[in-house]
Amino acid sequence: MVRTAISLRDVRKSYGDTEVVKGVDLDIAGGEIMVLIGPSGCGKTTILRMINRLVEPSGGTILCEGQDTSRMDPVALRRRIGYVIQGIGLFPHMRVLENVSVVPRLKGIGPDEARSISGRALEMVGLPPSEYGEKWPRQLSGGQQQRVGVARALAGDPEIILMDEPFGALDPISRIGLQDELLDLQFKLKKTVVFVTHDISEAMKMGNRIAIMRSGELVQVGEPLALLSSPDDDFVSGFVGAGNPMAMFSFMKVKDVPVRTSDLPVVDIEDSMSNAVRAAHNTDLRFCRDRFVYVLDQGRLAGSVNVEGIPPVALPGPVRERLQPASSVRTTRTVQEALGTMISSAIANVAVVDEAGRFLGVLSFSDMYDIIQQQKERDGTTAVV
Ligand SMILES: Nc1ncnc2c1ncn2[C@@H]1O[C@H](COP(=O)(O)OP(=O)(O)OP(=O)(O)O)[C@@H](O)[C@H]1O
Ligand SMILES: [Mg+2]
Repeated sequence: MVRTAISLRDVRKSYGDTEVVKGVDLDIAGGEIMVLIGPSGCGKTTILRMINRLVEPSGGTILCEGQDTSRMDPVALRRRIGYVIQGIGLFPHMRVLENVSVVPRLKGIGPDEARSISGRALEMVGLPPSEYGEKWPRQLSGGQQQRVGVARALAGDPEIILMDEPFGALDPISRIGLQDELLDLQFKLKKTVVFVTHDISEAMKMGNRIAIMRSGELVQVGEPLALLSSPDDDFVSGFVGAGNPMAMFSFMKVKDVPVRTSDLPVVDIEDSMSNAVRAAHNTDLRFCRDRFVYVLDQGRLAGSVNVEGIPPVALPGPVRERLQPASSVRTTRTVQEALGTMISSAIANVAVVDEAGRFLGVLSFSDMYDIIQQQKERDGTTAVV
């Protein structure tokens, strides 16, 4: 059974006569990324701040690892919870390393150890402390400042991290880069993350589950694909873009679509070129047949070899000597990114690898086309492809 890390039971918040959070019930599992999404003013930030008690609920109960947070010392509670606040929020008069060190120092860690912990946290978000540690926040780009915000949340080694629109201020390209890095980091660290955004593509990409809010209430909670395939009402359906395959690809993960695992043009790095030619000849994978094969080294994707125009006769030499790069995509990436890779490689197939680089199979353009057709038949919708 998955452990529940945070539990909200009928949680409410009023300011004067206005109820801005209206009885929210939500269980967040240990190690999951729960995304809160909804229009501006619907209460997302208020919920985050009630979890770490920067805002006191007007009603209901919040349990953190089974303990009622209202009975806990708020300072002790906040030490267990990292917080990336909306709008970056670095201290402008402190250098980068000092900004991050604030968190371990608050936990009572001595200055030297706090610096080395903070250095490691900066390293994790791709900002080597030797280069960035002594800079002032204003000397960094928006994206780098947001990384420092994430490093600061990580530096306390919290069990739970609350992230309030952590990439909100970024251009789309930097945003995608930071999303990928955070997913990679999460794969290693397995923290419990509550992630607020108002960008549905970001929600679908980042969330193990998504909680859709409207005017202080939860409308629907579910996994991305469940929200797409069975939205409870028109608000959710419109919000997630159900029924539009292109919208679907922008947040569907590679791991959620069937990857071809048999009849693949694959050889081992120790194989001979003639084996490679044979493998390319034997596959029915379009765009690969008689053209090229993937090369594996102990189960990992090592590259590819091009066999186009080489006659299927015994060729001297191992594939190792003709190795070329192969385009690949990780299972955590979106189908849209996979399609982009196929198009830019002009192969119309892309190798799928896991986080450790192990080869899992191939996603092909023809298979994608079939998925779109099936979706169209199921929904009776007019596809835009
Ligand atoms: N201290 C406060 N006093 C009075 N009203 C408040 C206070 N803080 C928040 N509110 C109101 O509560 C509602 C929810 O605010 P909240 O900041 O949680 O929204 P949000 O979903 O995070 O919005 P955004 O996407 O714009 O960040 C808003 O209508 C806001 O005006
Ligand atoms: Mg907010």
